[in-house]
Amino acid sequence: VRSTENLPQQILDFLQESNEFNSIQLAQQWNLDHQKVIGAIKSLLANEGVLTTKDVTEKRLELTNEGVQFANEGSPEYLVFEFVGTDGAAQADIQKKPFGKIGMAKAMQFKWVSVDKGRVVRQATEVTDSTRKQLESLRIGSSDVSENEKKELKKRKLISEVNIKALVVSKGTSFTTSLAKQEADLTPEMIASGSWKDMQFKKYNFDSLGVVPSSGHLHPLMKVRSEFRQIFFSMGFSEMATNRYVESSFWNFDALFQPQQHPARDAHDTFFVSDPAISTKFPEDYLERVKTVHSKGGYGSAGYNYDWKIEEAQKNVLRTHTTAVSARQLYQLAQEGFRPSKLFSIDRVFRNETLDATHLAEFHQVEGVIAEKNLSLAHLIGIFTEFFKKLGITNLRFKPTYNPYTEPSMEIFAYHQGLTKWVEIGNSGMFRPEMLLPMGLPADVNVAGYGLSLERPTMIKYGINNIRDLFGSKIDLNVVYNNPICRLDK
Ligand code: PHE
Repeated sequence: VRSTENLPQQILDFLQESNEFNSIQLAQQWNLDHQKVIGAIKSLLANEGVLTTKDVTEKRLELTNEGVQFANEGSPEYLVFEFVGTDGAAQADIQKKPFGKIGMAKAMQFKWVSVDKGRVVRQATEVTDSTRKQLESLRIGSSDVSENEKKELKKRKLISEVNIKALVVSKGTSFTTSLAKQEADLTPEMIASGSWKDMQFKKYNFDSLGVVPSSGHLHPLMKVRSEFRQIFFSMGFSEMATNRYVESSFWNFDALFQPQQHPARDAHDTFFVSDPAISTKFPEDYLERVKTVHSKGGYGSAGYNYDWKIEEAQKNVLRTHTTAVSARQLYQLAQEGFRPSKLFSIDRVFRNETLDATHLAEFHQVEGVIAEKNLSLAHLIGIFTEFFKKLGITNLRFKPTYNPYTEPSMEIFAYHQGLTKWVEIGNSGMFRPEMLLPMGLPADVNVAGYGLSLERPTMIKYGINNIRDLFGSKIDLNVVYNNPICRLDK
């Protein structure tokens, strides 16, 4: 094999003598990979006028994988002949060899061996492995293989004809064998000294691809979030401000008519904040109305009939659901004067969970709230159907459930084709009058709400089985770098 060192220079020297050559023939002659020769020619083309090239397509015989194997190791018929040796061999032993079957058939056909009662003996004393010789010749592009021999090798699928793109190269108008080094950069020094005048500069390559600049990457969850946001916007929803991870128990629980003894308000379920441990600013009359509805009832409700304590409501927590945000927003809406509203939020919530493949202590909720006069459960189901259709989910089922702040309440199930079962994808309901009326919303206003996790559809979308591979400190950054844009409806 010829040295590829300074191959372009070798090519120039060769062209000086030969005036013209074909890249395939040169590669064969120098026993080099054709692509190496093409690469060297291409690099010379950067020097204007040195070479002229013409594209040609050439038919060439190439060894198949089996052909290469026979050229390297010998043909099966020859291997059989060798194996049989001067002593002969059992036919069964030959058949066990990888070359046995084809080798026997060919060696018999060539009358190299014969079989007698299961024993194979040599019929010829000496043979030449011409199949191997022909393959070796063709491999180096030699022309001493006859047309008949080629036909036979083709039939045995040891060679095949392929089209190869080659270049016919001849001298260009400014051909030279001593190329000046081409400068890639024009430097201030060259300008100052005037040396640029005698220099050759590399041509700009406007087709070359630039270096991909390093940049930030959106987390898959954020990509799914932006899809959800688009769906909400397309249905006329506005986004609620969710920049408040720390919330008072009042807005997280009390405002939602969740009694102070409710198990969800216990440290096993909720993270309490130690500093600052309490909130003290609340709308006073509203707080009084909340206290009353919990302890004594009102608005047609008997309440829970217990001793409601401000101390419990003051406790700061990491919000356990974005419904705390909805509560603030609905109260605000009542203060501003009611107008029909469709609101949503998508943000982080916190629960004191035991961590496993589907549970983290912090996750994201997608929440929608619709406030309108004389809204009913039928409207809520209609909104879901539309919302989930836009997500690409059409097979929905609803199951009655319980929330302290909604009545009726429904869990939403979707049929998961991959898991072939119904999976819970959300929770919802019509907010109770005990929650809405103390806020000051008109009595004929109904509010429907729903919440779902952001992680779950993302896991389904990206085929992620463990939530820890999606969110938190253990995620693989390459997943973040390489995951595609999200289209939920596809
Ligand atoms: N807050 C509920 C949850 O965390 C979801 C929900 C929102 C239910 C609004 C009803 C109305 O599961």
